[in-house]
Amino acid sequence: MIVAWISRISRPLGRPILLRSFHSTRKSLHGDFEWQDPRSEEDAVNITYVLRDGSERKIKGKVGDNCMYLAHRYNIELEGACEASCACSTCHVYVETHGDKLEEPKEEEDDMLDQAPVVRPNSRLACQITLSKDLDGIRLTLPPITRNFYVDGHVPQPH
Ligand code: FES
Repeated sequence: MIVAWISRISRPLGRPILLRSFHSTRKSLHGDFEWQDPRSEEDAVNITYVLRDGSERKIKGKVGDNCMYLAHRYNIELEGACEASCACSTCHVYVETHGDKLEEPKEEEDDMLDQAPVVRPNSRLACQITLSKDLDGIRLTLPPITRNFYVDGHVPQPH
């Protein structure tokens, strides 16, 4: 949707560079990459999502997967209202393990986390976590509530 909108406003304004830049990142914006299985064990990264009811979902992701889009692939109830643009806090998670292996959050991520409910020291945005081999075995817990953009109980579906 964002790409379509940018395309509509960019064409009349003649901004091919902006357009090219969006098309080059389109794959990661929409999570297509996360729908591909790991090619080998060396490529695989195990991740556990702890759901709101306390149950666990163990998933085999791969190097380069975005943790929010990977959750969408497996129907884990993690919203992503801004499609990984770091402009919302609906993909808020608690990083239970491997936090020391993650890069420090950028200022934009911290700004969004400031708006998330029930923030803890290990809070991060799942859309800003990219799996690497160092993160094999990482556990991400969904917070009890999120700043959900929907008000009617709607559960968002993967894009
Ligand atoms: S999806 Fe909006 S910040 Fe992650």
